[in-house]
Amino acid sequence: MAVRLSHVLPPAVLLVLAVVGILLVVLPAREMKTAPDNMYGIVLDAGSSHTSMYIYKWPADKQNGTGIVTQHDECHVKGGGISSYAGKRGGAAKSLEACMQQALNKIPKPRQRQTPLCLGATAGMRLLDIVNSTEAQRVLKEVETKLRSYPFHFKEAVILSGQAEGAYGWVTVNYLLENFVKYGFIGQWLNSGKETIGALDLGGASTQITFETPETVEDKSNLMELKLYGKTYKLYTQSFLCYGQDQFLRKLMAHLIKTQGVRSYVLHPCYPRQFNTTIKLGEDVFNSPCTKNYRPAKFDPHMNVTVVGMGDYDWCLADVRTMFSFSNCNYSKCSFDGVFQPRVKGSFMAFSAFYFTYSYLTRLTSIPITSPNQTAKAVRLVCGMNMAEMVEKTKQEERYMKSVCAVSNFVQVLLTQGYDFDEVSFPTISFQKKAGGASVGWALGYMLSQSNLVPAERLGLMKAMPSGPWAGILTLFILLLIFALGYILVIYRKARTNQDLV
Ligand SMILES: *[C@@H]1O[C@H](CO)[C@@H](O)[C@H](O)[C@H]1NC(C)=O
Ligand SMILES: *[C@@H]1O[C@H](CO)[C@@H](O)[C@H](O)[C@H]1NC(C)=O
Ligand SMILES: *[C@@H]1O[C@H](CO)[C@@H](O)[C@H](O)[C@H]1NC(C)=O
Repeated sequence: MAVRLSHVLPPAVLLVLAVVGILLVVLPAREMKTAPDNMYGIVLDAGSSHTSMYIYKWPADKQNGTGIVTQHDECHVKGGGISSYAGKRGGAAKSLEACMQQALNKIPKPRQRQTPLCLGATAGMRLLDIVNSTEAQRVLKEVETKLRSYPFHFKEAVILSGQAEGAYGWVTVNYLLENFVKYGFIGQWLNSGKETIGALDLGGASTQITFETPETVEDKSNLMELKLYGKTYKLYTQSFLCYGQDQFLRKLMAHLIKTQGVRSYVLHPCYPRQFNTTIKLGEDVFNSPCTKNYRPAKFDPHMNVTVVGMGDYDWCLADVRTMFSFSNCNYSKCSFDGVFQPRVKGSFMAFSAFYFTYSYLTRLTSIPITSPNQTAKAVRLVCGMNMAEMVEKTKQEERYMKSVCAVSNFVQVLLTQGYDFDEVSFPTISFQKKAGGASVGWALGYMLSQSNLVPAERLGLMKAMPSGPWAGILTLFILLLIFALGYILVIYRKARTNQDLV
């Protein structure tokens, strides 16, 4: 018995050693291989009406930050925009929790620490900053503290300027359409040689127009020079605060109340006929810096007013027009409100609320929105529809449908009279929500500029060992395993023959 154990022990030890050795070599190597070869980035688009989170990804071995960034995931925060939590401590931070949890689930753990995380707030926070700057800073700080509590690489939580918002939207559009560069077959980035296209963005509290122009930009605050992939682009960009769809609707309501007088009801030419609703003078109309000029000297902010829909296209269009000023231009030409604008040039992509308006108009009327004439025809038809018909055709809630006529007229006046798109240039506008699998908006452009700061990894650093020595060590352990197994077999046979002899 004692003799047998001393015979079996050495090969058994060798066997265990070989198995452990093989596991040690193979297991971590496999982990290395499944380790994500993508980098990730998170942008929180803190808009006036809601916050959206976008997760982007790109190959870790990207060159010069030109890696092809694609959208990995998105999440829409429940409730209002972060500016709606003014005066409600903790509310803005708490609202982001569900989406941040989703980010934790969607980004591989080993990558989380390297994942840049930034929040850009737009016109809703610009307005809060005008009303109460200390409160705006408090909300931003609160959100920043929350974001820092996650394992991601927090970069910033800031209010973007209107120019930055416009320019990032333009970068997004042209990046998605691959207008900057293309990857040549010899593995080099080449200038695409394509024309860039302009960006039209319509948010809740502001609207942006951005395009490349050869003309002199007479107001330097509209000029943006971007250097991308070695080429300099001269952009015209303008952001109109209070011309987002929600703030425009407020201004229109304030204008109607001002002209009709403060009383228990107000006739609304743009609401569907026979549709009534109730609003509060303070929170629904005058509690915004955008309606300051319409505010009556004395009014009760808690007063309820019944809005009575008239469904009158011509009246609606006339009132919408009065919200724009087409006089007093101190430059060679202006869009409206005394703002300089060169002639629109090239093709355009219109996204966000421009897309939704376009989509409602085409679904309700089946008229293709490709010229100012067709737009007018479609908007006239929509303004004459009743609520039941609109809800039936779009399967959307009344609260969205009640404003389709007003917003369509607003978009019509903004594009054709404001920006001056005509029968020739209007057809170049394409209305889109997504391109190349990504949502069209400023968030991707913002991410692209931030991702330049993420150091590119070289593939060679990803492996634990160069593959030559690694394979050698593995072969060695396998040989050891075979040797140990063979040794055990020999001993076993010897023992059997000894037994047979006995
Ligand atoms: C990377 O950037 C350098 C200078 O910043 C430039 O010379 C080089 O061509 C770039 N390479 C690629 C592949 O874009
Ligand atoms: C602004 O917000 C702060 C709280 O951050 C509040 O104490 C202050 O009264 C507000 N100011 C105005 C003018 O509303
Ligand atoms: C809407 O309000 C007006 C004025 O108050 C009223 O005459 C009308 O009957 C109301 N219509 C509906 C459908 O409630």
